[in-house]
Amino acid sequence: MKRLWLSLLGGCAALSLRAQPAPASQPFPPADLMRIGVYYYPEAWPRDQWPRDIANIKKLGLEFVHMGEFAWAFDEPEEGKYDFTWLDRAVKLCADQGLKVVLCTPTPTPPVWLSERHPEILMIDAQGRRMLHGTREQATWSSEVYRAYVGKIVDQLGRHYGNNPAVWGWQLDNELSHYGKGIDYSEASQQKFRAWLKARYRTIGALNEAWGNSFWSQMYQSFDQIHLPNEEEEVAQLNPHAVLDSQRWFADEAADYLRFQAAILRKYAGNRQWITTNFMQWYTSVDPARSAKDFEILTWTLYPAHGNLNEGPLGFRLGSASEISWVHDYLRTLNGNEGLMELQPGQVNWGPVNPQPYPGAVHLWILRAFAAGAKLVCTYRYREPLAGSELYHYGLAGTDGVTPTPGGLQYSQAAHEMDLLRRNYRPEAAMPAAYAARRTAILTSIDSRWDVDNHKQTVRWDTLGHALKYYRALKELGCPTDVITEDKDFGAYPFLVVPADQLVDAALVGRWRAYAENGGHLVITCRTGQKDRRGHLWEGPWAQPILGLIGAKIKFYDVLPAPFVGHVASGGRTFSWASWAEVLAPDAGTEPLAQYADQYYAGGVAAVTRTLGRGSVTYIGVDSEDGSLEAALVRGVFARARVPVERYDDGFLVDWRDGFWVATNFTEKTEQAPIPPGARIFSGGPVLGPAGVAVWQEGASRR
Ligand code: GAL
Repeated sequence: MKRLWLSLLGGCAALSLRAQPAPASQPFPPADLMRIGVYYYPEAWPRDQWPRDIANIKKLGLEFVHMGEFAWAFDEPEEGKYDFTWLDRAVKLCADQGLKVVLCTPTPTPPVWLSERHPEILMIDAQGRRMLHGTREQATWSSEVYRAYVGKIVDQLGRHYGNNPAVWGWQLDNELSHYGKGIDYSEASQQKFRAWLKARYRTIGALNEAWGNSFWSQMYQSFDQIHLPNEEEEVAQLNPHAVLDSQRWFADEAADYLRFQAAILRKYAGNRQWITTNFMQWYTSVDPARSAKDFEILTWTLYPAHGNLNEGPLGFRLGSASEISWVHDYLRTLNGNEGLMELQPGQVNWGPVNPQPYPGAVHLWILRAFAAGAKLVCTYRYREPLAGSELYHYGLAGTDGVTPTPGGLQYSQAAHEMDLLRRNYRPEAAMPAAYAARRTAILTSIDSRWDVDNHKQTVRWDTLGHALKYYRALKELGCPTDVITEDKDFGAYPFLVVPADQLVDAALVGRWRAYAENGGHLVITCRTGQKDRRGHLWEGPWAQPILGLIGAKIKFYDVLPAPFVGHVASGGRTFSWASWAEVLAPDAGTEPLAQYADQYYAGGVAAVTRTLGRGSVTYIGVDSEDGSLEAALVRGVFARARVPVERYDDGFLVDWRDGFWVATNFTEKTEQAPIPPGARIFSGGPVLGPAGVAVWQEGASRR
């Protein structure tokens, strides 16, 4: 789950069926904007309540129902005896109401008979314990035995529903992961890891070299001697290259498993139904980018208020604007279609403290998804459960099964607003020029993120928090932002930010150089370019490959133990830092932007900028405590490029989508939505309190 910041892992898989989406259909026509739906568990409620519940879902104004992701015990109550009569009835009840259906493969929850008959399908945790039947995600998807059973149930589902016009699309599995248990150390996984390594390195000598195994006599003689790195089994620090490869393998293996399921469904569904899975918010061990070409849409699960503080005094009720918005901007950019498969409906049950969301927060999150371009928003779940592991979790209906909760009413409000927006959609609307001029990409690399996190050098460093400082700065300027992976065309963006991209090669640095020379404005931040793709430091000056590009040397970096903080002066202001500081030596022609104000290197340079060809390169070598230095320096980049920007408060997001402007207020303050005279307002108004939302169209004041 989103909550568990799982401890990572990565890899490939030997034989993988390609599951390319068939291109012909358009499952998400632009004019539909964003569809809104809900999870329903018919298997958990008396049959005579299903018609009432489904009719009430319709009455709320919702458009689709999501079912079946945990229902294997009902789909196949005994081995080989499939029973979809119950699901047929639920699907028909939805269809009769004009509701679309999203069906799921039930593979997170193998039935008890399967685990009893084949205990080898159960994962082994880091301490060597076999997990038991009783919750979910306990199976190992590396097991060929498990895959055989999965293949059969997915085949049955595809055969049965692949032609059913009520079925809109499919979700594979559910938050694929092993939750807090991290990775699976079963023999099946160990063997697949070894096969992956063999395919990657071919000879054991090459692996020994890549992993630096000459140190501590780590030399292997054959691939069969290798195990997944496991802190519980090794005495001192794990080999960082082995850890990074295990993360790559795990992510490859997960993507392969999803592809395996998708390929089966495609045989029956063709391009009539779309396929996705619901990734967890921070996708730390299972990588959505690896599935971008396999699915028509990438979806995720979002629970903004579960006892985390987030930004500002109301952050614990409103969630974090930047985190939410970052994930939307990342998944949307991966293949063009993004959605929220799960969005918190109200209070949840699994956080350390589970507060009530702020009144209006659920509506805020839905409209934020709309602003970010989401094609669908679905909520977990319709009815609050009366039994089972998720007691106390809100739904759209309360414990009586019929009365809408505050979240239910907010979903209903959003669904009706979406209807109004659809009726006013103008396909010809083009992105306003001033907004388009600020288009910015932030580069993200899961390899660099893993590698930095594997060896931070200081517990005060937060890899994602570092990138979010830049993201927040950009949203304050009102920039449309795409979070991009390396395969994207940098030239599509006037501005490009590269935060802490530690693992690079000459080709990537060459692309950055060409980008700036051709007129792009490039911002590179500390910890970038320090290692090669294997995770080795360069035999040469620190961060050697980027030095010619940034126009400076990096003399050394410093970190401070708590409670010490250092200071940096820039533009007449002083900023504090605590996690990471590089001391730079600018080349001739490179302009210093910030200097250290204390420590033994006071006066040393912390940030620089230079022009390069028709563009510019700015290097920021320090990570400030609160992001205010980053905000000031990023603002300077836009000023030097003479591109006008906005001045929104942190947490007040204003974006444009499909002809509509959307302002969302995640702050504790009252904010002013920048609605021009003559605009047509569809939701909210110019004055927005906390959780306030405004949606408007320029130059059309009829209502
Ligand atoms: C999600 C999960 C759902 C449900 C929900 C509760 O992460 O996918 O199945 O457990 O959390 O908030």
